[in-house]
Amino acid sequence: SAAPLVDQFQRRITYLRLSVTDRCDLRCSYCMPERMTFLPRKDVLSLEELHELSLGFIARGIRKIRLTGGEPLVRRDMMELVQALGRKIGDGLDELTLTTNATRLAEFADGLAAAGVKRVNVSLDTLDREGFAALARRDSLPQVLEGLQAAREAGLVVKLNTVALKGINEAEIPDIIAWAHGQGFEITLIEVMPLGEVEEDRFDHYLPLLAVREDLEKRWTLQPSEHRTGGPARYFDIAETGGRLGLITPLTQNFCEGCNRIRVTATGQLYACLGGNEQVDLRAALRSDAPDRALQDALDTAMRIKPERHHFAIEEPGAAPALSRHMSMTGG
Ligand code: GTP
Ligand code: 5AD
Ligand code: SF4
Repeated sequence: SAAPLVDQFQRRITYLRLSVTDRCDLRCSYCMPERMTFLPRKDVLSLEELHELSLGFIARGIRKIRLTGGEPLVRRDMMELVQALGRKIGDGLDELTLTTNATRLAEFADGLAAAGVKRVNVSLDTLDREGFAALARRDSLPQVLEGLQAAREAGLVVKLNTVALKGINEAEIPDIIAWAHGQGFEITLIEVMPLGEVEEDRFDHYLPLLAVREDLEKRWTLQPSEHRTGGPARYFDIAETGGRLGLITPLTQNFCEGCNRIRVTATGQLYACLGGNEQVDLRAALRSDAPDRALQDALDTAMRIKPERHHFAIEEPGAAPALSRHMSMTGG
């Protein structure tokens, strides 16, 4: 069947977040441990499988594909996938985009734009070189800034993603917002989520965005905006900077009732929710004797098991993460 993807809560699923690799060239301390164990390459879907899978999703009504990682641009044949999927824009797909740390964006920005990518989301938590080197455990801020410049020159719309971290970038948040808006970038702040073991206790750096918003409102006028992207952010226009600010608040203000997305890992595991373990093995379906039939059945199963909401919380120090897998498995 080519029926649209609708879950048992009548949510229409139109947004696929496809992780093309779990590897990354940074080690952001809230995301992964320094000694991260990555997947064996043989377990990762091939370029052909990623393409076939994406076409299967488009046939079932997926209109937006976001390529994620890990860091998607560290995968060698990534641009071939972008080019192949770029041909579906306007022919099934409304949008092809990616979330990147931008360390390699200078090299790829032109190619992405040529393939039909219009916007990119770039993870950037600090503008301080030493602070970046400490947080990401790699001294890569100069490359990231070059990547952002190249994206602008290629005509890509840029949205920054900044995880709000108490005692780390907390004091710098207004400066980052002002800088982003001065550059013509949108920016979204994100609450840190309890996914996967890292060296530190996320409780120590968890910053509820309500507090950040109140702080920002002391200096600026935040006007709630009707702007929507199909993602989880709620948006505000800041009169004084002339830019847009998004807030992603999985912990303090749940947004699951409007969920329109699923995510697939680099090994082809579909996770029905970022905050749950409900999964379907699409790789097994793709590698079965009747891949078409098996894939359709797997997608139908995914719609039956998609939970109503996640139950993230960071309420006490020392608690184990809600989920054992890291964000880099599912690309957020
Ligand atoms: P836009 O298309 O620009 O709206 O992007 P997006 O916000 O959907 O994607 P992006 O990759 O920039 O993700 C930003 C943050 O939102 C990441 O930290 C994701 O983990 C988080 N996020 C995206 N979807 C969900 C979701 O369904 N649930 C939760 N809890 N977080 C999500
Ligand atoms: N909590 C919140 N955001 C996270 N990211 C990575 N790990 C976490 C986490 N534990 C963010 C990255 C990137 C986006 C895809 O997810 O900073 O912007
Ligand atoms: Fe890499 Fe993004 Fe995780 Fe940082 S947050 S280590 S850039 S995947």
